[in-house]
Amino acid sequence: MEAWFITLVSFCVCFLIRAIFSLHSSPTKASGKAIITTPPGPSHISIITRLLWLRKSFTELEPTLRTFHAKYGPIITLRIGASPAIFIADGALAHRALVHNGSLFSDRPEAPATAAILSSNRRNISSASYGATWRTLRRNLASEMLHHSRVRSFSGIRKCVLNSLLTRLKSASESIHSVRVIDHLRHAMFCLLVFMCFGERLDEGKVRDIARVERQLLLRLGSFNILNFWPSVTRVLYRKKWLEMLRLRKEQEDVLLPLIRARKQKQKQAKESGLNDDHDDVVSYVDTLLDLQLPEEKRELNEGELVTLCNEFLNAGTDTTSTALQWIMANLVKYPHVQERVVEEIKQVVGEKKEREVKEEELHKLGYLKAVVLEGLRRHPPGHFVLPHAVTEDVVLKDYLVPKNGTVNFMVAEMGLDPKVWEDPLAFKPERFLNDEGFDITGTKEIKMMPFGAGRRICPGYNLALLHLEYFVANLVLNFEWKVPQGGDVDLSEKKEFTVVMKNALQTFRIGQNGPYRVRNGPFRTPKSRTKTTPRTTHSEIRTARSGTHPERPVLPSERPVLPPERPVLLSRTARSPSGTARSPSFL
Ligand code: HEM
Repeated sequence: MEAWFITLVSFCVCFLIRAIFSLHSSPTKASGKAIITTPPGPSHISIITRLLWLRKSFTELEPTLRTFHAKYGPIITLRIGASPAIFIADGALAHRALVHNGSLFSDRPEAPATAAILSSNRRNISSASYGATWRTLRRNLASEMLHHSRVRSFSGIRKCVLNSLLTRLKSASESIHSVRVIDHLRHAMFCLLVFMCFGERLDEGKVRDIARVERQLLLRLGSFNILNFWPSVTRVLYRKKWLEMLRLRKEQEDVLLPLIRARKQKQKQAKESGLNDDHDDVVSYVDTLLDLQLPEEKRELNEGELVTLCNEFLNAGTDTTSTALQWIMANLVKYPHVQERVVEEIKQVVGEKKEREVKEEELHKLGYLKAVVLEGLRRHPPGHFVLPHAVTEDVVLKDYLVPKNGTVNFMVAEMGLDPKVWEDPLAFKPERFLNDEGFDITGTKEIKMMPFGAGRRICPGYNLALLHLEYFVANLVLNFEWKVPQGGDVDLSEKKEFTVVMKNALQTFRIGQNGPYRVRNGPFRTPKSRTKTTPRTTHSEIRTARSGTHPERPVLPSERPVLPPERPVLLSRTARSPSGTARSPSFL
């Protein structure tokens, strides 16, 4: 009999049994009197629908969740898995849960089978349960790596990475091949994180090797979800998938372990020679982990756990930041007046200098730039949900029961677009943050948006992320004029990968010697013959255009941007992104 049929029948039986039990277990008594139930939600979701849903990420379910919220209110329950999944779409409720009741809402759900393997049994920050191990790992990251004096010690590498990004973009703009901007942005962020993690500048090939292995695993995560339903059975039925996951984890160990061991060796030699670590001015994340003691087990981290933690560090700071950076740049292309205002502010505040560089220590003077970054995070948060939370005991929130065995999910994107909180929420208007004296992104006082989460599980890297975003946006617009052809547009459609990315990525291109390229639903092509009215161009420009749904449209001579003397125009187009979905229970 077909494996899928056996699996389907088995799941149906399991769900029926569990559904019967869960119907009886939801209501509870508060103070011995009133019956309190879980938040409302659709009572009947067919088993087939549940099974299909279980294979999808929350982001893919977002439109359906929105419909349910419209019907049932800002807090709802879905019974799609073995335990209830609660979804909160309202900032005030999220604040009540994560900030007022932070100690109760800061746990994570049990790790499913695949996550348990990839997270070394939850010995990383994002999936550890709320307890001593989590506290130790998180404190180490926050105080040893993300403290502002340590972050400042990496300013040299940020400058190097920026310069190399600018050079790459320049040569991309001069190449006849169009190049996806996101690939360069992601590579730049990855180089920064690799350096912070291992304390060394690795050669290009090595960095690309690690990035390839990391990304492969990240994009395949979603497809391994099936292995989490009845693992002892699916592991046999989907043996190939199971082996693929183990192979990808092994590849990860193969690329990361030599770097970890090299650092260990270095530390050992330093100790033996009587030198303390201070002789080496770079303290890497691995260094901070080597001496760490797991409080509950009273032992050091083993190699598998070190790989898991390095992997978390690399992934947590790369895709999120580069995704946000691309969204911000796309909006700056779409709204040239916003881009011009950023440039004007830089010129006024930083002054016009020979070298086109905004230094890190100058960023705090750039209020409008900050507003642009915040608006980018509000309008396009890289994660539309925070990582799933769990409660440490049954809790009552807004008169509803949040059961201990359930998951609690916060709808970040919905909060950022809430019309009760944001005027004209779909518009990209950085000005909305200018009146707010020091907008509180941590949501401590109130939650208007929460791209980094809020409360005790808030992203510990948010300051580093904001620094990276401000520094790169400022220098990217100062060094190039990012332009869209007249009459063209930027397509801001979304697509779920590990984060929510642009469906049609921003791309650089040039109007080269062979005449104008065409903007079409797919790659740009050089037309077979150049029309007489189309003059040659001798320089590079950045353009963005809409692809996907946009009909084919030639680039007209009148669309050629006029180059301002001081900022070369760089070039861009939109490309099909590699496909793949991933549920993100943690930065595995
Ligand atoms: C734009 C960039 C970033 C965004 C949007 C972002 C967003 C988030 C979000 C939404 C969470 C989950 C919060 C929750 O579950 O309540 C999170 C957790 C986390 N982030 Fe970030 N993040 C970014 C950059 C970084 C960076 C640069 C690092 C470190 C290098 C980092 C490290 C982590 C870690 C370790 C956690 C797990 C925290 C915990 O469970 O206690 N993130 N991040």
